[in-house]
Amino acid sequence: MPLLKIDDREIEVAAGTTVLDAALANDIEIPHYCYHPVLEIVGSCRMCMVEIEGMPKLQVSCNTRIGNALPDRKVDGMYDMVVSTKSDIVKRARENTLEFLLLNHPLDCPVCDQAGECFLQDYSFRYGRAHSRFEDEKRVRPAEDLGAGVVINQNRCIMCTRCVRFTREISGTGELFVQQRGNSTKISILEDKPLDNLLAGNVTDICPVGALLSKDYIHRNRIWNLDRQPSVCQECSVGCNVDIYHKNGKVFRTSARENLDVNGYFICDTGRYSYHDYEAVERVTSPMIRKDKKWQKISWDGAFKEIFEKLGRKKEGDSNNVAGIFSPFHTSEANFMFARLMQNVFKERAVIGTLPLPKEEEKKFPGGFRISGDCSPNWRGLTEVSSYIYEDIFNELKKQKIKLMYALDDGVNRELTQEWKDLLRNLDFLVVQTYAMTPLAERAHLLLPGAAPLEREGTLMNDSGRIQWLRPVIPLKGSSRPDWKIVMEVMNTVGKRELDYSHVNEVLAEMNERIPAYEGVTFFKLGESGMSINEEARES
Ligand code: SF4
Ligand code: SF4
Ligand code: FES
Repeated sequence: MPLLKIDDREIEVAAGTTVLDAALANDIEIPHYCYHPVLEIVGSCRMCMVEIEGMPKLQVSCNTRIGNALPDRKVDGMYDMVVSTKSDIVKRARENTLEFLLLNHPLDCPVCDQAGECFLQDYSFRYGRAHSRFEDEKRVRPAEDLGAGVVINQNRCIMCTRCVRFTREISGTGELFVQQRGNSTKISILEDKPLDNLLAGNVTDICPVGALLSKDYIHRNRIWNLDRQPSVCQECSVGCNVDIYHKNGKVFRTSARENLDVNGYFICDTGRYSYHDYEAVERVTSPMIRKDKKWQKISWDGAFKEIFEKLGRKKEGDSNNVAGIFSPFHTSEANFMFARLMQNVFKERAVIGTLPLPKEEEKKFPGGFRISGDCSPNWRGLTEVSSYIYEDIFNELKKQKIKLMYALDDGVNRELTQEWKDLLRNLDFLVVQTYAMTPLAERAHLLLPGAAPLEREGTLMNDSGRIQWLRPVIPLKGSSRPDWKIVMEVMNTVGKRELDYSHVNEVLAEMNERIPAYEGVTFFKLGESGMSINEEARES
């Protein structure tokens, strides 16, 4: 392999690697703007210049590849390439590039939404000149709407063209282009083709400066005031990795988090803005019982007693079976506890399955990004923790004339068919564990308040078998409880068990013993990127 010297470091890399990639992989910073790991290299911003021994001029490191190893490199201290990222000439080049990029820049960091995570700000501080020599009037242009979710502040654009290449190479929609030349150059759309594709929000993540802004977040908060929670999108079975920014129980922004085994560098707009859907639902935040067609609050003990009375006692004559409705929207831990309740407490009385699941057409994009047609985040995990399950239990319920039901509600605002409505109306007892007043919850006799999606902690398994750590972003509301815990307490009450797990990792530890796919899985090992059930590394 070629041997490279970058500053005072010796690095071996595969032939064909760019100098910038070699440096970044070895934690050597070379400032850059137009380079993005999955976009075509254009080498246009000139920020990544380095000095290479034997070359007469500075080179752009993003577009300079390391050749094959010299066949006669035998002498110690001889390298295939010697690169300097810190020489005086490199420093001067960076200062000049930054001075040029800032000629027309408004320097409005105090009101810019990118401040605090802006590469123009950071690089100017680290590599720029303290003062600009530019004394003319700056060019001033108005902000423009690019689409439903994105606005461009033309004055801040540094023309790196990452956004243009994204719409050409990743979304394949090509809405953005470079209009005009020279001092008039700007990023534009055609009037009849706004930036409204399903991946549009990603351009606000990849714009290195505060030019492309999400209308959803604009002027809502400053990044340094917010807490970041690495988490997993729950809107489809891909399980994209996201960062959710929040403060005092309120979510302000979701952005893509890199995971090359799942979503690469991007997310779709459904996932990006889904936190608003959770805010919009009517929440169930305390146990409630229906009395004379009205909801009344009830204590948790009262709720468990009611379940014991209605589901725990065997009745003669009537069908005594209990339908257990699982949910692929819930964590594997909640479904695992539910499976234990059904299999170990209700045993032969249990009939288990799911409600009809929302499905859409799968969407694939030219850059390889995929949005699954399965809108649930954990179908695969559910099938691992419960071996037999009816996917849409309706026919079975009808055939067996089921009268009792305990449902883990998925929170989906699904339109129930008349047949389902009739079936639910004829139940003697329906207990629904839910965070939202869904059409199913409205028909319950007893409601148990569980955690909303952003309040849950546990694991989700995506459709390619990757187990990921779902971390809670905001606290539970009212007197709601984690779903696995509610099911545990029902198990203790109805089945006279004495389980007293206080944290979800104790449930995961039990799953380690009982579910082969979860053997050896811990939250610590899952970390921020998860692990695949196919990975041999899991054994170590
Ligand atoms: S809008 Fe942002 S991403 Fe697009 S060219 Fe300008 S600086 Fe680059
Ligand atoms: S592709 Fe699926 S998992 Fe990824 S962000 Fe979109 S909805 Fe969420
Ligand atoms: S990052 Fe190399 S020229 Fe822009």
